[in-house]
Amino acid sequence: MSKQPPRKVIFDTDPGVDDAMALYFALAHPGIDVVGITTTFGNVSVEQAATNALYLTAIANRKITVTQGVKAPWVKPGEAPPDFIHGADGLGNLAHRVATHNRLDPRPSAQYIVDMARAHPGEITLVAVGPLGNLSLALKLEPELPRLLREVIIMGGTIDEPGNVSPVAEANIWNDPHAADHVFMADWKLTMVGLDVTHRVVTELSLFQKIADHHRHVATDTLHHAVAFYSTFYSGLHKHLSFGPGCFAHDLLAFIYLVDPGLFTLESGAIRVATEGIAQGQTMLNRRAYIDYPQEGWARHLPATDVCMQVDAPGCLALFEETLMSNWLSH
Ligand code: BDR
Ligand code: CA
Repeated sequence: MSKQPPRKVIFDTDPGVDDAMALYFALAHPGIDVVGITTTFGNVSVEQAATNALYLTAIANRKITVTQGVKAPWVKPGEAPPDFIHGADGLGNLAHRVATHNRLDPRPSAQYIVDMARAHPGEITLVAVGPLGNLSLALKLEPELPRLLREVIIMGGTIDEPGNVSPVAEANIWNDPHAADHVFMADWKLTMVGLDVTHRVVTELSLFQKIADHHRHVATDTLHHAVAFYSTFYSGLHKHLSFGPGCFAHDLLAFIYLVDPGLFTLESGAIRVATEGIAQGQTMLNRRAYIDYPQEGWARHLPATDVCMQVDAPGCLALFEETLMSNWLSH
């Protein structure tokens, strides 16, 4: 039986607590080869995001290219990062950091994405779990990017589920709606993993405790600390969901989709993003492709996005636990 080689991935991220969960899942999973990490503003400033990506990889004994990317949205003014969700440092306000030596690659993130896509045509999957400015800029630098990348998977957006920054908008899309609309209108194999599924999967703090107790390692201790802070926010906000200390693991699900898409049910159609007004950041899915809508912006043959609408939550949690409990830190 032929074994598939691991999927080469560029991880575009704003770490961020759930970004850290996603990163460690990707590093731990044998089917994923994280070849580079591109960072963006979002949960923290882009400088802090890059610092965190370097730190998280260094303490997990990995040397992976990390680049710094866009600092702000394209059109709308930037806003203060949500320190009440991820901590002022993005990792739940760590009391101290151990000394590490990994250094940034000097290229801007968008240039790095373009360079890698040109060097490995058709091989790289881009998993983007922050605002989409780096990807949008890369697309401007290289209009052939959809042909050069194997696939793009984003965590962002929502279709039926209420938003998390407004009744209709999810944070990553709302943070840069113009960049997001540009990304949805490009003709690549694109999958959206949004709140319709991430709000169905609750990771309990006790699981991160179990993982930390098992490994007794600075990487899993750091993750446990960060998730404890993040869970305080989520458990306080969603009391009606009646889970114990725990949280949504948004970004993690983008990687779970990559390695086990069978855990998800998809719908497909064109997505446009509202860039202005009270619906800013809303991701609108055209479920009636056979209709010639008279409104501007809904031409009949727009590129389609696969959207995750349902998820096998126990399946995701079992895969996460099995992967993080494996021997991944002995590298
Ligand atoms: C998304 O927003 C960020 O806060 C998280 O890291 C995730 O990417 C969830 O809406
Ligand atoms: Ca994120």
